[in-house]
Amino acid sequence: MEEKKFKRILVTTALPYANGPVHIGHLAGVYVPADIYVRYQRLKGRDVLHIGGSDEHGVPITLKARKEGVTPQDIVDRYHAIIKKSFEEFGISFDIYSRTTSEIHCKTASDFFRKLYDKGVFIEKTSEQYYDEEAQQFLADRYITGTCPHCKNERAYGDQCEACGTSLNATDLINPKSAISGSTPVLRETKHWYLPLDRYENFLKEWILEGHKEWKPNVYGQCKSWLDLGLQPRAVSRDLDWGVPVPVEGAEGKVLYVWFDAPIGYISNTKELRPDDWEKYWKDPETKLVHFIGKDNIVFHCIVFPAMLKAEGSYILPENVPANEFLNLEGDKISTSRNWAVWLHEYLEDFPGKQDVLRYVLTANAPETKDNDFTWKDFQARNNNELVAILGNFINRSMVLTHKYFDGKVPACGELTDYDRATLKEFSDVKERVENCIENYRFREALKEAMNLARIGNKYLADTEPWKIAKSDMPRVATILNLSLQIAANLSIAFEPFLPFTAKKIRAMLGLATVEWDMLGRIDILPENTQLAEPILLFEKIDDSVVEAQIKKLNDTKAANEKAAHKAEPVAPTIEFDDFLKLDIRVGTVLECQKVPKADKLLQFKIDDGLGGRTIISGIAKHYKPEDLVGKQVCFIANLAPRKLKGIESQGMILSAEDADGRLVVITPDTPVAGGSCVK
Ligand code: 2FM
Ligand code: ZN
Repeated sequence: MEEKKFKRILVTTALPYANGPVHIGHLAGVYVPADIYVRYQRLKGRDVLHIGGSDEHGVPITLKARKEGVTPQDIVDRYHAIIKKSFEEFGISFDIYSRTTSEIHCKTASDFFRKLYDKGVFIEKTSEQYYDEEAQQFLADRYITGTCPHCKNERAYGDQCEACGTSLNATDLINPKSAISGSTPVLRETKHWYLPLDRYENFLKEWILEGHKEWKPNVYGQCKSWLDLGLQPRAVSRDLDWGVPVPVEGAEGKVLYVWFDAPIGYISNTKELRPDDWEKYWKDPETKLVHFIGKDNIVFHCIVFPAMLKAEGSYILPENVPANEFLNLEGDKISTSRNWAVWLHEYLEDFPGKQDVLRYVLTANAPETKDNDFTWKDFQARNNNELVAILGNFINRSMVLTHKYFDGKVPACGELTDYDRATLKEFSDVKERVENCIENYRFREALKEAMNLARIGNKYLADTEPWKIAKSDMPRVATILNLSLQIAANLSIAFEPFLPFTAKKIRAMLGLATVEWDMLGRIDILPENTQLAEPILLFEKIDDSVVEAQIKKLNDTKAANEKAAHKAEPVAPTIEFDDFLKLDIRVGTVLECQKVPKADKLLQFKIDDGLGGRTIISGIAKHYKPEDLVGKQVCFIANLAPRKLKGIESQGMILSAEDADGRLVVITPDTPVAGGSCVK
């Protein structure tokens, strides 16, 4: 098994951008699972380090600073402190939580680049890129908007048109505008350094596709798609004045691309924590390196960073990259800009002391294999029906009964009945089961197994009813309570990785100083006569009114967003009636609809237009399943000049409405009309 192969474990968690606070999606996707894993490994007595920190470079931080009229350093100082505090409050047990603006990081990242540069790894290339003369800076593709040359959408980005799904170069845009100043950018020559990922393609294919078939299917699948498509060189420098300067002569005004320096942050932070022996964590093949990340970070951790490490030559590669999918909130994508989130600092204001309730719900409902939804109703139900009714209830009853009948001292265990033995047998393999799940990154299932132990305890007390025999058979009551308390002690171990605050409270009540994972499954953890502390309630019921207030808060946010969205879209310049008449808009019935191969946004339609049918390509694949559109009536522009998309001629354009979230819905007539009817 794994522990034999590895002497130590190095766990890293994605470095969150220090341009906003953290929310439940961060916790569920990355930090809670990593924390469970790390706490478990510590309890096993393994040599494990948990490395975290804030990602403090990148364009969005500079834009936020510009908007607020402060420096980028002010922004990262503010959010680094907020994020660090949130993690501490939720018990995310980092060995170090540092930052990528630290001196040690800048030097480490700079040296890393320089080593690759000296080895001749990079390709140097000069190209023309857009420059904002007003803001005096080159523009990242995402910060240039303009008209899509294909569908004429006026709000296309420099990397992609979201209306028709075409991926673009910024120079393809008609009438480009800088998103920073609104001015028209000009083209300027600039030199950059590229990491030739294509040269590492064979190595990556062998290492991931052959060597790591055990990776989670979502991770393996994404890697396979990237590798199947073929890798291209990627620029690892940017024209920007915020970041780690490119350590090469003539590179003034250029910094390392944020995705080049951020993962090196894992190395720098390990160095900062362990200046004398950090290398054994990064360079000894007996170290197991595990990156916990969200799904949007897969390509950087499975392809780009390993290629960097391989190019450097002296580092180990990750053994696993257990990326999670996304957590949605009440059916909608979590979004910082729309304030559609449960922020950790706000949660703690509303639910003080209830960190473990959130940790529990986020683990029980973790987006391990697919996107999942957080709802306040589910939060309430899991708290009331599981934490209060099962775990809390069992611990409380064991404690209260022991105080009542034995002055709070652990009573002696007498002879076991067949029922006792059957109960013990039921939980004898819980240790192995939880271990197996955690080692394989299946934390939801692991939590279920731990909870099952509490269920066994609860059932044991309910079935044996010691309160009914207190008058007649005290030795039997003693045995029942001894076993119950031993189960409680087991729970304090099994739950330590998941609910650390609760596990600590249980241990304090039981007078258990230290525990280790391998005690799990034993029924002699608490010596006879151990004095228990006074019982305290571990969890309390959450009333309907409390979750309704949270739901209301979200609904208010939604209403405010909708209002803002309505205001936000200015009306286009006035046109004459004759201009309107030029548009031939018609209604057609969808006869066939299918995905366009190798284009994740495009759908190909066969439309009954009353004139023998026509083919139209539309960029709405992210919003509809093709089969759901067949039979529907849609509006389309019938006299648009045909154009080719992915080699298919599109004869028109289907009309959709777009809301503030970028959701597209097709326009359908109120009641069906004949195919080809004109819209007037
Ligand atoms: O997606 C993000 O939030 C990035 N800041 C993650 C960086 S992970 C690592 F490379 F540092
Ligand atoms: Zn377009």
